[in-house]
Amino acid sequence: MDRALEWDRGTLKLLDQSALPRETRVVVCATVDEVAEAIRSMKIRGAPAIGAAAAYGLVLAVQTAAGIAPPALRAHLDAAARMLLGTRPTAVNLRWAVERMLAVPDQVPWHSGTDLAAALLAEAHRIAEEDIRTNRAIGANGAALIRPGERILTYCNTGSLATVDYGTALGIIRTAHEQGKRIQVLVSETRPVLQGARLTAWEVLRDGIPATLIADNAAGWLMRRGLVDRVIVGADRVAANGDTANKIGTYGLAVLARAHEIPFLVAAPLSTVDFRTPDGSAIPIEERRPEEITHVAGVPVAPEGIAAANPAFDITPHHLITAIVTEAGVATPPYVRSLLDLSAARDVRAR
Ligand code: MRU
Repeated sequence: MDRALEWDRGTLKLLDQSALPRETRVVVCATVDEVAEAIRSMKIRGAPAIGAAAAYGLVLAVQTAAGIAPPALRAHLDAAARMLLGTRPTAVNLRWAVERMLAVPDQVPWHSGTDLAAALLAEAHRIAEEDIRTNRAIGANGAALIRPGERILTYCNTGSLATVDYGTALGIIRTAHEQGKRIQVLVSETRPVLQGARLTAWEVLRDGIPATLIADNAAGWLMRRGLVDRVIVGADRVAANGDTANKIGTYGLAVLARAHEIPFLVAAPLSTVDFRTPDGSAIPIEERRPEEITHVAGVPVAPEGIAAANPAFDITPHHLITAIVTEAGVATPPYVRSLLDLSAARDVRAR
């Protein structure tokens, strides 16, 4: 299996990201509950990948509802959607994809569960295919900003595993590499669950992109020594004013980048921009299990009984962000204006 997720003969197959890179394990989801559990336990993760998985999850919800008559199917679909929305609260792509799916029953004629499941599947496939096109466009828009030979620090995993394919921040890195820009990547390990060390390192190695893994706490010193030319990260939610929620630790990198006058780019599809959220203070931050801090790969590293706080995301204020790269172009401050302009331009193009 080459992608993070694939629809296969009535099931959703996921590459289990909690097991990579030690083990390549495929999880087969036949019900929406199984999809929700895979999202919760981060077998599938990354904002766009979560959105696409949830879309297919809603197909499964209807497909497995043989005993429910059409009039009650709508309520059944809504309940499945609520359950999926509760799995991971920060990534807005989840809400975006679920809302697109929930609009389907009102947009197409359907008379049976089979009709509805087919229409939902078509929409889920559209969401997945659009994601790949979007990432390619983000890659091209972002790579245009990169000079030959740059040393780029990236965080978490924003690659093909975090999306349907290709990636956002890592998509920019991929494109720059494909263009022969001779870039070098610094992959920050990304505690607590090591998406950088486990997943981004795995992706860059497979693509032959020159890369070096660093401990998260090495970033400041490497910047101080002049070894970082740019930071590129992804996003789980961008508020209307450009404040950006991303993996915990992103804010610290942005502060360091500003202190060392290093450009700090956010790469995100417009589906990650939440125009209903005015600024970062309104973005819900997921708090995860303390065991992710007290244990590494299941092995305890802290004394039993110690309390641990585990916010999974932080908010980088917009004034620390040099630019936000989207599929419709590059937004620069003031983001309140530029993000809206890009969104409007995309809608005009789509007509
Ligand atoms: O907790 P995760 O691994 O789902 O967090 C992922 C991130 O923070 C990514 O940077 C973000 O989702 C963008 S992925 C293209």
